[in-house]
Amino acid sequence: MTFARIAGTGGFVPGEPVSNQDLVERGIDTSDQWIVERTGIRYRHLAEKGAATSDLALEASRRALDAAGVEANDIDLVIVATSTADCIFPSTAALLQAKLGITNGCAAFDVQAVCSGFVYAMSIAEKFIASGSNRRALVVGAEVFSRILDWNDRGTCVLFGDGAGAIVLEASDEPGVLASALHADGSHSPILCAPGTLAAGGVTGDPFLRMDGQAVFKLAVRVLGEVAHETIDAADLTLGDIDWLIPHQANIRIMQSTARRLKLDMDNVVVTVDRHGNTSAASIPLALDVAVRDGRIQRGQRVMLEGVGGGFTWGAVLFRF
Ligand code: ACO
Repeated sequence: MTFARIAGTGGFVPGEPVSNQDLVERGIDTSDQWIVERTGIRYRHLAEKGAATSDLALEASRRALDAAGVEANDIDLVIVATSTADCIFPSTAALLQAKLGITNGCAAFDVQAVCSGFVYAMSIAEKFIASGSNRRALVVGAEVFSRILDWNDRGTCVLFGDGAGAIVLEASDEPGVLASALHADGSHSPILCAPGTLAAGGVTGDPFLRMDGQAVFKLAVRVLGEVAHETIDAADLTLGDIDWLIPHQANIRIMQSTARRLKLDMDNVVVTVDRHGNTSAASIPLALDVAVRDGRIQRGQRVMLEGVGGGFTWGAVLFRF
């Protein structure tokens, strides 16, 4: 049996951290206290004008390739999860493939599942590898969410940041991804969306991210609880067998509520929302990379990733590192 195992991780955030107080000084009617109490966010990183999602993805990918000890041309599948693609087409994955100098003609495509995007992308890559069609995938979550924020809407603009995270997922005789589950319910699309559309050479309608925060909160906690049980059951394990939970980094209170529901200690939950804010599809691989590099996540441990986001979409991947 062929498993898909993480060979290396990488992460990248652009520029210096921007504090909550920095946002106040930039004229946003908010406070450090409000943001920290409600979300746990203290800092985020914001890409400079001109920096594209593929630029952030490139840095994170180089670090993941280094960590895995492989060359760019050893990759035979590139998947980028993003909602802030460089352009309508080509895909950010194709642009990233070219920037990395991959010349072997491997498949490259984007996955759009907003904040669940990385979990979707990793699950897809695992299936390509387990089926035998591919040996080594580069799976990336990368975003410049600052481009779709309404900086006059204090209810959303303080929540998000830019960044990228990447993994090299490769075929192995040892596990590996143990189970995954993906879901969507498009009937909830109005509670979290960027509803603008492209027409007549410009964006028609509202180009910015809009959110009903309380509705998102309630739905996120429910589905994160359900999908954790579904995934652990599929692997024939119990939640007590998980060493680390890495939920989508949207809000510390969503993570705390999820951990309570799952009867997991917060000491076993990786939290980076305080320093990165919500980086959408990048949040989970960024948090994974932080915890691998600081030595918390060790080889052989069991890790569950949980994504939730616009669509509404949600999902989980359970793996042995
Ligand atoms: N600074 C100061 N005050 C603010 C801010 C701000 N940045 N934003 C809103 N307020 C004010 C509002 O105007 C309102 O004032 P009022 O009572 O005078 O009318 C008050 O704070 C309360 O506003 P609510 O929107 O009710 O605030 P709430 O307590 O619901 O917190 C939050 C908002 C943090 C967004 C919360 O709903 C939440 O955590 N939701 C989860 C959604 C989330 O994390 N989304 C991330 C993206 S989704 C995803 O990634 C899955």
